[in-house]
Amino acid sequence: MALLLLLAMLTACAATPQDMSGKMFTFPQATNTAHVRLTTSRQSLSAVTVCLRTFTDLTRDHAPFSLATPTAHNDFLIYRQAANNRINIYARNTGVNFEGLDYETNTWHSLCSTWDSGTGLGQIWLDGKPSSRKFISSGSSISGPIIIVLGQDQDSHGGAFEITQSFVGMMSDVHMWNYTLSPCEIKGYTEELFFTPGNVLNWGALSFQTNGRVLIEDKQRGCL
Ligand SMILES: *[C@@H]1O[C@H](CO)[C@@H](O)[C@H](O)[C@H]1NC(C)=O
Repeated sequence: MALLLLLAMLTACAATPQDMSGKMFTFPQATNTAHVRLTTSRQSLSAVTVCLRTFTDLTRDHAPFSLATPTAHNDFLIYRQAANNRINIYARNTGVNFEGLDYETNTWHSLCSTWDSGTGLGQIWLDGKPSSRKFISSGSSISGPIIIVLGQDQDSHGGAFEITQSFVGMMSDVHMWNYTLSPCEIKGYTEELFFTPGNVLNWGALSFQTNGRVLIEDKQRGCL
């Protein structure tokens, strides 16, 4: 009985969401292993918004956010081609380029991306500024089992990472919703004002597991 109770407590512990407010993940080196795996109970998504903040000096390709299912390794992927000022958004394995995005290195940026399977349209908001709305993929939803990884690009369901696509830097305030946010809600997120926390991933109650050298640190806010 006591053992059962202990086991139940341990299992609950592993699954207990953590309040990450004021914290960040630090990815301090390029590897093909270090990543954060995020857990959600949602296994079907007909629309998506992902918002996160990143800080990096990378001038090569990298993938801050990668969502894979067994049939689609790029079921929802944010992939930055830094050398070309370009961000690719993939939905259901189809990628689209968003061009001319001015991502200055060595400073925090807010990045939101939306996609809706009804219209098929995707859009990026970098530091609150919208991109063109572009067709990515329509007519089918993301459907699980979903694996979400921060810091590496999944080329298989949960693995096949490449060091040349790894994220190096800091990441914070990761939220995901199963609908597209309005411009006003994106503004609320970007300016750290009021917004409805993600109902798929919520930074204030995040279920995750770090793998390899990824640190949880206080977000540096300068010297007040
Ligand atoms: C999002 O998830 C909620 C359950 O929390 C569900 O009621 C709603 O229909 C979903 N929205 C979409 C667009 O799938």
